[in-house]
Amino acid sequence: MGLIISSQFILTRCNFKIIQLMLKKEISLIPIEASSVTQILQICGDCKISSWTAKDYIDELKRSDSFSISCVTNHQKNTIGFIFVRLITSKHKDNLSFKKDLEQNLDFDEAEILNIAILPEYQGKGIGQIIFDCFVNFCISRRIHTIWLEVRKSNKQAQGFYSKNGFQIFYSRKNYYQNPVEDAFVMKVNLSFI
Ligand SMILES: CC(C)(COP(=O)(O)OP(=O)(O)OC[C@H]1O[C@@H](n2cnc3c(N)ncnc32)[C@H](O)[C@@H]1OP(=O)(O)O)[C@@H](O)C(=O)NCCC(=O)NCCS
Repeated sequence: MGLIISSQFILTRCNFKIIQLMLKKEISLIPIEASSVTQILQICGDCKISSWTAKDYIDELKRSDSFSISCVTNHQKNTIGFIFVRLITSKHKDNLSFKKDLEQNLDFDEAEILNIAILPEYQGKGIGQIIFDCFVNFCISRRIHTIWLEVRKSNKQAQGFYSKNGFQIFYSRKNYYQNPVEDAFVMKVNLSFI
């Protein structure tokens, strides 16, 4: 089943307390820069997710097929949550026209969430939702119609978050994760534009 996207849908999904925090200018959503990578590694460590290194994140930031956004506190500029996404095209093109499309951000039709995490003390307060909604708005603007992700089979918290946002398990990958070894669920959601 597809997720129907409309501007009303985006607004009604936002947590009211978070809108208040944003209106009071206590938190902001901003693009991620290399200077935030240390704080992002800290969030990953606190959440016990992913084995990405600082270089992995910096390399990801340099890619033209990458989307990332963070939530920061305006007072101390602390990063409290983030999302990294890889944009995907299924179209086969020669290198020159593909590069041109990438530069104009025109030619993506799918996206894969590489990582999303919120500092533990800020979890359950709607921060993940507002970051995800910002990403969905980006998808709408680019007419990206499918979002994919992988999640550990035991990570029921993230699965709850993804289910709430319309994702369904598409298939599982045996022993996909290391340290500890675990199966992955591949989940996807189709966005239907109205
Ligand atoms: C998963 C995660 C990003 C969600 O962010 P969050 O800010 O805690 O989530 P929100 O407060 O915005 O919750 C939005 C919705 O997700 C669902 N949700 C959130 N936490 C949940 C949980 N523990 N169990 C089930 N559903 C949950 C709820 O439906 C919630 O909506 P509601 O409050 O109206 O019921 C966050 O918990 C996190 O960083 N987890 C650790 C890192 C991680 O596992 N990342 C995913 C790797 S694949």
